[in-house]
Amino acid sequence: MSYSNIIQSFIKDLNGQNIMNCISCREFYACNTMARAIVRLPKLRQLENIKIRNESFSLTGEASSFVNDALRRRFCSDYDLAHTMSVPASVTITRRAGYSMQTKITTDPIEAAAHIMRGDIVAFPTETVYGLGANVFDAAAVAKIFKAKRRPADNPLIAHVASREQIDLLAAEITESAENFINAFFPGPLTVVVRKVEAVPLIATAGLDTIGIRMPAFKVASEFLSACGVPVVAPSANLSGRPSPTTWEAVLEDLNGRIDCILKGEPTEIGLESAVVDCSSEIPVLLRAGSVSLEQLREVVPGTRGISTGFGDVARSPGLLHKHYSPRAGVVLLGGDEISDQISEQTAFIGLSKVPDGFALVKQCDSVEQYAHSLFEFFRECDRAGIAVIYCEKVQETGLGAALMDRLRRAAE
Ligand code: TXA
Ligand code: MG
Repeated sequence: MSYSNIIQSFIKDLNGQNIMNCISCREFYACNTMARAIVRLPKLRQLENIKIRNESFSLTGEASSFVNDALRRRFCSDYDLAHTMSVPASVTITRRAGYSMQTKITTDPIEAAAHIMRGDIVAFPTETVYGLGANVFDAAAVAKIFKAKRRPADNPLIAHVASREQIDLLAAEITESAENFINAFFPGPLTVVVRKVEAVPLIATAGLDTIGIRMPAFKVASEFLSACGVPVVAPSANLSGRPSPTTWEAVLEDLNGRIDCILKGEPTEIGLESAVVDCSSEIPVLLRAGSVSLEQLREVVPGTRGISTGFGDVARSPGLLHKHYSPRAGVVLLGGDEISDQISEQTAFIGLSKVPDGFALVKQCDSVEQYAHSLFEFFRECDRAGIAVIYCEKVQETGLGAALMDRLRRAAE
């Protein structure tokens, strides 16, 4: 492995928070760990497996502050690292060209829509989470979404529509189950997957011949989508792997300087992403749980299947393969009776139970709805505060509780 490969793999690890997960400590600690590892490069070069946990020497001076600064600002992969091998090491970090754009913030849906028509990418609020949108028929604009989010190219996007007519611009066939779900739940927090028309570029669907379609119910979203005049593909407006944004400030935190415009609106109502149901074959399959529950879907189409972890189903929803919803802090799920053992100044709690004092941050929710609504923003708040571990109380897996437990489990992975 070359020096630059080692550096690249550290950067990758830090972006994926593997280092922090593996040593379960705070970001600051991880920064120092990486800085130490850089100083030890001549030695590390000899190793096949890099085990930085066992490194135990200190770093002073320039290298420490450069590395810490860069990592703290979480810009790792937008920077190039150069270094010398002397000790103390000198580390120079230079920003790569590409992301110097001004992100326009507006409350006017018409102004935001004008950006879409120009081929720009725009974040906008919906009732579930904020999305990052582009004109579905403009492959170059869609490519910008993947780049800005650092989204893997094999993860398909959902197309958002303002009207029934726009569904017909996207779908090659509306199966009977799709028709029934559309009639029952649109507009609302449900995505229906159907076969796509040729005009939808493959980049939008990650090469699949199907497309996920959703009609948001949020007023600002439908004003924006109507003004766009075309369906708008949009994943959640976060950097890949991070918790989905439920406020415009969270979008700014992840994507400032990387996207053209943010349509600033209220915090989202539901706080978890839409349910995704695949209707492209005879028996519909729920691929992602959401606030429209499996029970509700079965009231409309009784044979609807829940997702299994079998390969067939996972392959149908590539997004399930990727890491999701993760704060930098560790996430641990607990039953109500296990909570009081975990109190410390570096831990936080979110859940339904009333907890004793002593956690650094606490969000005690009155209902599962409020828990879902608050979860992703609480994760972000914990990261800003440098919390090491977030304890999340488990809930019953019925209705919205099933979607909430799905997100909690993924965050804890
Ligand atoms: O609530 C939501 O759904 C939000 C807002 C912005 O609408 N969007 C969102 O998008 O959460 P994203 O990209 O973060 O998640 C899309 C999910 C992924 O799990 C993806 O695999 C699945 O939908 N999906 C999209 N198109 C699909 C398709 N053609 N077949 C199977 N799964 C699909
Ligand atoms: Mg997402």
